[in-house]
Amino acid sequence: MEECQHLATDKMIALDAIEIATLDKQQRTNLINGLSGFKSALLLGTTNDNNQHNLALYSNVVHIGANPPLMGIIQRPVSVEKHTYENIKANGHFTINHIPIKLYKNGHQTSARYDRATSEFEACGFTPVFKGNIIAPFVGESPIQIGLTLEEEVKITSNDTLLLVGRIKEIYLAPGIIDEEGFIEIAKANTILVQGLESYYSANFVDRLPYAKPHNG
Ligand SMILES: Cc1cc2nc3c(=O)[nH]c(=O)nc-3n(C[C@H](O)[C@H](O)[C@H](O)COP(=O)(O)O)c2cc1C
Repeated sequence: MEECQHLATDKMIALDAIEIATLDKQQRTNLINGLSGFKSALLLGTTNDNNQHNLALYSNVVHIGANPPLMGIIQRPVSVEKHTYENIKANGHFTINHIPIKLYKNGHQTSARYDRATSEFEACGFTPVFKGNIIAPFVGESPIQIGLTLEEEVKITSNDTLLLVGRIKEIYLAPGIIDEEGFIEIAKANTILVQGLESYYSANFVDRLPYAKPHNG
């Protein structure tokens, strides 16, 4: 058994590549998973030909571009059964749903490895809602619901993960969270943020700034 390095000291920590590589496995995983900071904890809804619905927690979700409207998700290696990925590949549709803070435990539970026949909607207390032209369930409890179709799949060869690029086709927003200019005031949606795979946070609005330009002289 490897000896754990003491990380929680009162001194500045400096780790080089070798020290990172030789950290205790759990320490390294926790550290690296947390480094990219706060992300929205999001639920991906999908379904398959047998009408088996799936819901899973994803936080590695990024804005790819506004025109065309694209979002990307990082899919862990599909060396083991991944129902979200299977379903997206099968019919090309998925939904991304923000989670109300009061349901963060239910959201976390969707990351458990349920078998294919079990719907995490049912097992974890969410309501599947079909609407519009998306062949995937939205989360009824979610104040920000996005329907997408798979546009592109990019293999990240460094670690066998995938970047799944989705085209935004439908958006559903609860009342009172978007202004006339199109800005979503995410803190008003009261949705949950996550750091790493286990630490949950809520958001506070700080400021809104104009498009930055270089200072003159
Ligand atoms: C906070 C959190 C964030 C996660 N983010 C991702 C992610 O971005 N990509 C991913 O592939 N898995 C992510 N997972 C793991 C999936 O939730 C997990 O693999 C799940 O079992 C997949 O379910 P499925 O087989 O039904 O698709 C995350 C788990 C947690 C707890």
